[in-house]
Order: sequence, then C-alpha cells, then structure tokens
Amino acid sequence: MAESIRVFAPATVANVNCGFDVLGFAVDQPGDELVLRRSDKKGIRITQITGDEGRLSLDPGKNTATVSILQYLQKQGLEDIGLEVELHKKMPFGSGLGSSAASTVAGVFAINALLDAPLPTTNLLPFAMEGERVACGAAHADNVGPSLLGGFVLIRSYEPLDVVQIAPPPGLWCAVIHPKIEINTKDAREILRKRILMSDAVDQWGNLAGLIAGLYTADYALIGRSLQDHIVEPIRSVLIPGFARVKASALEAGALGAGISGSGPSMFSLSADEATARKAATAMQMAFDEAGVANEAFISPVNTRGPIILD
Ligand code: HSE
Repeated sequence: MAESIRVFAPATVANVNCGFDVLGFAVDQPGDELVLRRSDKKGIRITQITGDEGRLSLDPGKNTATVSILQYLQKQGLEDIGLEVELHKKMPFGSGLGSSAASTVAGVFAINALLDAPLPTTNLLPFAMEGERVACGAAHADNVGPSLLGGFVLIRSYEPLDVVQIAPPPGLWCAVIHPKIEINTKDAREILRKRILMSDAVDQWGNLAGLIAGLYTADYALIGRSLQDHIVEPIRSVLIPGFARVKASALEAGALGAGISGSGPSMFSLSADEATARKAATAMQMAFDEAGVANEAFISPVNTRGPIILD
C-alpha cells in the first residue's frame, strides 16, 4: 500500500446549454492537483494550499477537497486514519470551470486510490457531491460527475442518484475562454427564476434529447442545433461583458455551438475538430478583448479519463 499519492482532477463544463444541472463534460486542462500522505497522527490535516491566494480554508471540515475525504472515511469506518493533504489549485475561482468540483473529486479519488481502490469510481460520486454542497450550497453533480468519470455525464435523477456516462464522439474539441472576472455560483443560482414557461420547457427538453442523441450517433449537425438554452442563458448572460459578441464569434468561426460554462463567466464552444476549436477560441478571445475584458483560453478535446494518478 502506497504511503502517498499525487492526483489530478479535470475542470468541467456544466449545463452544456440545454442541460442545466443535469449535463456536463470534462476537459483535459485546466485541473487541480492534490497530494495525500499517510501520517502517524490521527485525523486529517491540510498542510499546504497553493494557487488560492490564501482564500481557501485550512479547516478540513470547510475545504471542499477534504469534505469528500471525510465523508468517504466516515462511510468506510476509517475515521482514525492519519492523513496529510496538499492542494494545488491550478484553475481560477468563480470561473464556471468547476474549480470546487475538481478539488473535491481529487480528494475522494486520492483517498480511494491510496487505500487500493476498495470502491469503484462511480461509487465515489455521492462523496464528491458533498464537497460541492459545502462550496456552493447545492449538491449539484454536473461538475463533479464528469470530473470524476470523464466524458459527458447525464444526471437522469438526483433522488435516487442515477447517472449516465456518455462517451464523446471522436474529434469533439472544446474551447473555454475565461474572462478574468468572478461570478459566485451561489449568486448565479439565486438570480434564476424558480418557475418556467411550459413553452420554454418544451424547447429545452427537445434540445437536451437532441444533444444526447447527437452525441450517441456522432451527428455533429444535430449536436449544433441542440446547443441552445432558452431558460438560464438569457438571465445569466447579462453578467458577462460581451456575451452576445463572444457567442456569435464562436459560431462564425465554425463552432457547433457556444454558451456559458457552468454558472459563468467562462464561455465554451464545441467544435468538430481541433483546428475549428482553435479558430473559435481566437475569435472568442478577440470578442472579449473588444469588450475590454482580460481573458485566457483553454483548448482541449473532451476529456475521457477523469482523474488520474500522477505519481
Ligand atoms: N449547474 C450548475 C449551475 C453548475 O449552473 O449553477 C455550476 O458550475
């Protein structure tokens, strides 16, 4: 049994336009790294956090990375184990890239791996969701699901939890542009309407079903037609400077679709090949530049592996 382990868990794009709280996918970069070490001293301690500018709690009960570990240990009856945790944040906060999800997934994946993987990876999801609850007040799984399992993940039901893994069609690339402003997920959830029109619901479930069918059949045109959101995007887009232009420029560059990544402010586009994804990224960055917002781009295929052991 190893004494320590270093893992990486990927960032994620949640919602994917028409799948608010029920659909997300993972990207290769960015992501968080976490080191978990055995210790002779009982209990769990966070010994180091980098990349957070001192913003994250060192209290294991409040840090999303350790909440999932604590939940796991409790369930396994292993509360007496001694552990030290180092968390290396390698992605921006409040970015809509599932930063808290990557940390909580890294934590629970690391403890399971350190203990020689007694649980199958899919069984780790409820623990990771608890970390998400601590981070943003809601145990939504559309970031932790894909960060943990890779590819696209559909949450068919929360109670009981029922998730469906969908392998991305070959060649599907993503460009995520992060404008350097922050949106707190909790705030971005509070501004949403609690009731929606039947006509909007009909549009939305038509698109969601279309997107899933398009992913299964590698029908890129269908994927493109389905990447629409008539419910959440109109409300949240006002928080993102240059939103309309950024989205339009991705489509003009040949992307299949574009929208808000998670609760924003990052925006994503999906393309049928790498070259188009890069063109879309450049166009989206230029549109953010024109809106006077500093930004950075992450371009990668849809991640299919989920978290990995680095050493
Ligand atoms: N589905 C969540 C939301 C994702 O949009 O609030 C947050 O990253």
